[in-house]
Amino acid sequence: MVQLKTDAEIEAMRPACQVAAETLVMIEEYIKPGITTNEINQLVHDYTIERGGIPAPLNYRGFPKSVCTSVNHVVCHGIPDNKKLKDGDIINVDVTTIIDGWHGDTSKTFFVGKPKVRAQKLVEVAREALQLGIDVVKPGATLGDIGHVIQTFVEKHRFSVVREYCGHGIGRGFHEEPQVVHFGKPGEGMVIKEGMVFTIEPMVNAGKAPVKVLNDGWTVVTRDKSLSAQFEHTIAVRKHGAEILTQPSKENL
Ligand code: MF3
Ligand code: CO
Ligand code: CO
Repeated sequence: MVQLKTDAEIEAMRPACQVAAETLVMIEEYIKPGITTNEINQLVHDYTIERGGIPAPLNYRGFPKSVCTSVNHVVCHGIPDNKKLKDGDIINVDVTTIIDGWHGDTSKTFFVGKPKVRAQKLVEVAREALQLGIDVVKPGATLGDIGHVIQTFVEKHRFSVVREYCGHGIGRGFHEEPQVVHFGKPGEGMVIKEGMVFTIEPMVNAGKAPVKVLNDGWTVVTRDKSLSAQFEHTIAVRKHGAEILTQPSKENL
């Protein structure tokens, strides 16, 4: 069952979504060669607490850190560690913040130092894929419409969409219904209704789509070791389309 949110509930989600968004703004200047993902984890953790939030990943189903950091061929759910980032890496930082019991979930892929041409292309396609998905959201459209525009755009660029992980409803729960897959056919899947709040978070691989989970039980990597990029927003479905709840407010841009 998908629970539709009232306007008051959507308002109540704003602080969590804004702090998550502002965490990504905060972290950008630290993403440089030499920093470790543990240091990024500490910065995200401390900032979240300072802003009155709780980092949702910490202890979520046993996840050991406060943020997911997914470098190069890591698709998602990378666990921060003591490895230093190096020039030319790409890193997705996925922040989920809880405030007053509500969740906000957003992620972004950053360049470390100077990007390689192929990495730059991949990251731009992933960014655009998310935006195209958001653009089709309105009451009466279907989840298949979202998946279809994302898949079509990504494959047009000869990249591939990860199948095993998807966007999700969000609210008092971190992962609620519905599942929002990033592939599909127009008109298929659940009809989108005003008051739905969900994430869209396409993972785009430079090579083939298949992934596997490492022995740590979390880290998802591309099977062919190709680079992977991802962007994520939490959106609310309003009368005329999507409202991006995790868009950082203007002062931060
Ligand atoms: N933030 C991820 C998502 O977009 C989920 C991370 S679960 C964790 O859904 F345990 F790894 F944090
Ligand atoms: Co998510
Ligand atoms: Co996320």
